[in-house]
Amino acid sequence: ETGLVTLDSGYMNTGACTSSITYLDGERGVLRYRGYAVDELADKCSFVEVAYLLVHGTLPTRRQLTHFSRLLGRYALIHEDMIHFFDRFPPHAHPMAILSSMVNALSTFYPEITENPLENLDCMVARLLSKVRTIAAFSYKKSIGHPLVYPRHDLSYCANFLNMMFDSPVQPYEIRPEAVAALNKVLILHGDHEQNCSTSTVRIVGSARVNLYASISAGISALWGPLHGGANQAVVEMLERIYNGGGDFRKYVEMAKDPSSLFRLSGFGHRVYKTYDPRARVIKKTCDDLLEALNVSDPLLDIAKELEEYALKDDYFLERNLYPNVDFYSGIIYRALGIPKNMFTVMFALGRLPGWIAHWKELWDDPESRLYRPRQIYTGPGAREFVPLDDRV
Ligand code: SDX
Repeated sequence: ETGLVTLDSGYMNTGACTSSITYLDGERGVLRYRGYAVDELADKCSFVEVAYLLVHGTLPTRRQLTHFSRLLGRYALIHEDMIHFFDRFPPHAHPMAILSSMVNALSTFYPEITENPLENLDCMVARLLSKVRTIAAFSYKKSIGHPLVYPRHDLSYCANFLNMMFDSPVQPYEIRPEAVAALNKVLILHGDHEQNCSTSTVRIVGSARVNLYASISAGISALWGPLHGGANQAVVEMLERIYNGGGDFRKYVEMAKDPSSLFRLSGFGHRVYKTYDPRARVIKKTCDDLLEALNVSDPLLDIAKELEEYALKDDYFLERNLYPNVDFYSGIIYRALGIPKNMFTVMFALGRLPGWIAHWKELWDDPESRLYRPRQIYTGPGAREFVPLDDRV
């Protein structure tokens, strides 16, 4: 009666599947990648180290990290023919639409990924991690009509991204270590999150034996939604409306409590966390540290903190266990780095990419894994007699 089917289907229709990648305890606010606490990884590792951990299951040795970094450097360029794709998108195209299209198109440039999906997987993984970063930066440069800045062999993963985004022939970009450190942290904190909407999408598409790049492209589309990864852009748009309206966040909190209103406090609440999202705690501190280091202040951060404090004294939120989630403060970091709002969810995708890859690989590595085929509880009409067109009223 519970609708449970056996594990061998790989997907009990309770929505649970097995995975060894991320452990998440929503009641206690515990999040571990391959057994390591995420806040410790964010504090002590680079994003590339954590990407290796998620994909391969162990923290890399120095030799392994050097080899992985070399692969990322080798595959940082995209095929020059792909650069012409950017010219064909309309100027207002959302970067998530561009990213999803370009990642799917990558599989046409590397047909071997469909013919022999698990061959040279290390190269295919590094190629994707590196090229998604380049595609993201190029889409930004194209959107503002600036010349592309190519990846440099002498820069780390995050420093290269910032340089590709903001360097320019007329105004060289100063790569600040604090900015690179903050970007590493925030990407690590987005690395994986168990069976969330976009990861489940990658797993479902991947279970049909779809190649890695096309499966990831589907995950990017799922992440775009404002209830999921698109929330980081929605949070800043909400904070901007509050700021431009004089800073009175209380009416937004009250609106969010009104059952007749469709408005939700973006960045608040979570399907699994029924306590403070551990990632939000680290991101909030990273915000403070980065703004102090860059000697900038952001009125939206002040509003966000006051709104959080006000909401967390309100029974409506406390009774429903609604706390800030990973999206509530992340946009403030992106703003401080100079990243435009419509790129925030692209940043989420950049961080989540190693997690998606790890889940796709976990499925393909498991000889027992089968096509995902969730079942449903049918609520439509029972069997009916057919009525010819002329007899229908
Ligand atoms: C991410 O799954 C993951 O792991 C996702 C993620 C990841 O790393 O992949 O963590 C990333 O997607 C984070 C979530 C980003 N989205 C938002 O911040 C959008 C705003 N949040 C809400 O839409 C909502 O909280 C969800 C969608 C995130 C979760 O919704 P649920 O679990 O389906 O909760 P629910 O809609 O059943 O709400 C329970 C109650 C309801 O009230 P009642 O019917 O009980 O009276 O809480 C209320 C809801 O109305 N509620 C909110 C609210 N979120 C839930 N009320 C006001 N503001 C909110 N944000």
